Amino acid sequence: MVIRDIREMQLTAERIRQSGKRIAVVPTMGYLHEGHLSLIRIAKMKGDVVITTLFVNPTQFGPHEDYERYPRDFERDLALASAAGTTHLFAPEASQMYPTGYSTYIDVGGITEVLEGKSRPGHFRGVATVVAKLFNLTKPHVAVFGQKDAQQVAVIRRMIKDLNFNIELVVGPIVREADGLAMSSRNTYLTPQQRKEAVVLFQSLKLAEARVKEGVQECRKIIDEMASLIKANSSGVIDYISIADNTSLQELRHLQPGQSVLISLAVKFGSTRLIDNLIILV
Ligand code: PAF
Repeated sequence: MVIRDIREMQLTAERIRQSGKRIAVVPTMGYLHEGHLSLIRIAKMKGDVVITTLFVNPTQFGPHEDYERYPRDFERDLALASAAGTTHLFAPEASQMYPTGYSTYIDVGGITEVLEGKSRPGHFRGVATVVAKLFNLTKPHVAVFGQKDAQQVAVIRRMIKDLNFNIELVVGPIVREADGLAMSSRNTYLTPQQRKEAVVLFQSLKLAEARVKEGVQECRKIIDEMASLIKANSSGVIDYISIADNTSLQELRHLQPGQSVLISLAVKFGSTRLIDNLIILV
């Protein structure tokens, strides 16, 4: 079932709740790939009803980012989402989500100021705002997000806690292509040459993992090695490489045994910015 109207979505969600069924929601911006479909399958195990939301959210894109050219294919998304177990596809119009006069935004402090938040000012304000709105519209018991956007997960976890949303957050693992490249709708922007080179992102993360397992504790040393590998094997321009505490997202200088660390990076191939990450227990 496709729902476009926000009031209809809210009434439908309310009816589902009253019938005693559990709602699992998977928020997406569409152009679905195997990563999204894996989240829908997780949602299917977690809820009786799976609402997949499909909305390219204008407020999370910067003025010079790819909002206009973000890939869109509604019919394909509908077919893929349904086959994976979506029972309701919610695809609202931007004019209904943000009508004239719209002026309320959610700012999650602290963790939004580093990594993606530093490179993309305002991005997480847009994400937190739209996710809160989608929660209010779809009334889920469970919400499923992908680990690919590690900082997004941390921001939403914080928002759920701080704003007392009664929602279980479930995080699905990163789904990769056969050569290791993390699946992303933005991979479609890559030229064949850039696509080949982009595998170096995952290779650099695996190199970092190997160094941690060997006992290297100095983060700068690991980051430098990752950067050298990327520069030697691709035309990618590094935005950041970070080794941070997996909960606070604060950068680390030295690794301590028992720590859970988030190694993440953002690299630009031409105008396409790709991100990837790995969580490692030191
Ligand atoms: O991860 C995404 O696709 C988006 O940031 C989200 C969570 C759907 C909000 O627009």
